[in-house]
Amino acid sequence: MEKHLEEFFPAGTEEGRLLLQVDLDRLPRHVAVIMDGNGRWAASRGLPRAEGHRAGSASVHEIVEASARLGIGVLTLFAFSSENWKRPRPEVGRLWRLLREKLTKEDGLLVRNDIRLRVIGRRQGIPALVLKEIDRVEALTRENRRMTLVVALNYGGRAEIVDAARRILQDGRISPAKLDEKAFAAHLSTEGLPDPDLLIRTSGELRVSNFLLWQIAYAEIIVTPVLWPDFRRKHLLEAVLEFQKRDRRFGDVRSGGERTGKRS
Ligand code: IPE
Ligand code: IPE
Ligand code: MG
Repeated sequence: MEKHLEEFFPAGTEEGRLLLQVDLDRLPRHVAVIMDGNGRWAASRGLPRAEGHRAGSASVHEIVEASARLGIGVLTLFAFSSENWKRPRPEVGRLWRLLREKLTKEDGLLVRNDIRLRVIGRRQGIPALVLKEIDRVEALTRENRRMTLVVALNYGGRAEIVDAARRILQDGRISPAKLDEKAFAAHLSTEGLPDPDLLIRTSGELRVSNFLLWQIAYAEIIVTPVLWPDFRRKHLLEAVLEFQKRDRRFGDVRSGGERTGKRS
């Protein structure tokens, strides 16, 4: 067992035992997560919703590091949807403040683990101070290669598809006959990234809430009842193990694992 893995999933612990069952050569290349349930986590403790978001940021820290160490190539986290503006103003304000604070304080985590940050979503509407931190951390981590961390902020899947269509039309360089799926996907915010192999949603809700609508066409979906602030590395390993049991056919009648990548 490699040391960087052993440290994070120690032998003899539940995490260590789960890790032994994972086939590290058949990891999902891209894991996307709808981090849900912060509010319910807080309510069940008699705490304000904001405390749930703060507790959720500890899960983000752990899952980002665990994913990088495992060898997952891309981790996408849904942190603020284009519909979340409907929430009460104080909650929206606290969420953006928390996001800015985490960008400021967690840059070291990304640097230490060789992780590149890429933010997707409409920039318009995001508070200026948050944009400044996004730009700083993206520039700081641009050369990092071990894992790409995509954070979806002010993101909506439909808005993303409309924006792509708009750019293609404005550009005018692709004729209608030449526009195929590959050319279209190149205008999405996830350009250059593999599609998610695994989509995890916490807190038990059976919906996609406008997340990566184009990209999840063939993702394996796992919904866990665990609330996001309780989601830890063992839950990530459990999800990867379940993913590895799925029979992915991509419309064929035969199984095919061709979409999962080899570890570097
Ligand atoms: C997810 O938790 C965090 C964001 C959407 C920003 P919620 O705040 O949606 O928590 P619940 O779903 O109300 O429990
Ligand atoms: C989805 O969660 C958005 C994020 C996790 C950022 P929501 O809690 O906003 O979704 P709905 O309202 O339950 O569909
Ligand atoms: Mg929710």
